[in-house]
Amino acid sequence: MATTAVDVESFLRDLAADNESFYNDTPPELKTYWPHRLVGEAAIEAIKTRWFNEYIGAIVLSRLVEKVDHPRLKMMIARQVGDEAKHAQVCERRVRQMGGRVEDYEPLPEQLRMYEALDDFEHPEEFLAGMQFTTEHEGVKRNEQALDRFDAQTRQMFSAAINPDEPFHVQIGWTGLRLLCHDHESQERARAACHQQRELHREWTGAYRERMKARGLL
Ligand SMILES: [Fe+2]
Ligand SMILES: [Fe+2]
Repeated sequence: MATTAVDVESFLRDLAADNESFYNDTPPELKTYWPHRLVGEAAIEAIKTRWFNEYIGAIVLSRLVEKVDHPRLKMMIARQVGDEAKHAQVCERRVRQMGGRVEDYEPLPEQLRMYEALDDFEHPEEFLAGMQFTTEHEGVKRNEQALDRFDAQTRQMFSAAINPDEPFHVQIGWTGLRLLCHDHESQERARAACHQQRELHREWTGAYRERMKARGLL
């Protein structure tokens, strides 16, 4: 019956498998922010874009800390806020070292929409399903690409200060959904949020790609 909740472990397995097939069906150019090696202005713009995601991510996540009641989950998210803030700081520093500045970065409307949608969720399981469980899971794969698309110092930034934190963020998604998705309503909310956010993530990747191409940077 449609209103009966499934066991949380099979719910999570199905949702993860559904995400996996969505990712596998994504056109290759939308599975990456850095389709090839980037240098000079292109690298600066790419890291500025990344800086903004880390920066706005830290802000929306800090608001999520307030919205979550479960003490263990609340502290996991608080730790993530610190991680994302650190990621923003190392990106800002790298942009500066490369001769750019983050203060003049213009976020894309599609990029803002992805974070506004997270802010708009009324239930924490929607946020966790959309961000940690879904886009950060994709992010782990995308981040690995950074290790051969940039100069040595930028690669070092990713491998030392960013990539090692991301599996923990995905884990927060799993832990959170395990705690919060025991009834049909919460499972359906989580599923809908996951579907929405992965589409928004794909749309912003496309918009970023178009702007980089229009500027002659990709
Ligand atoms: Fe991050
Ligand atoms: Fe993250």
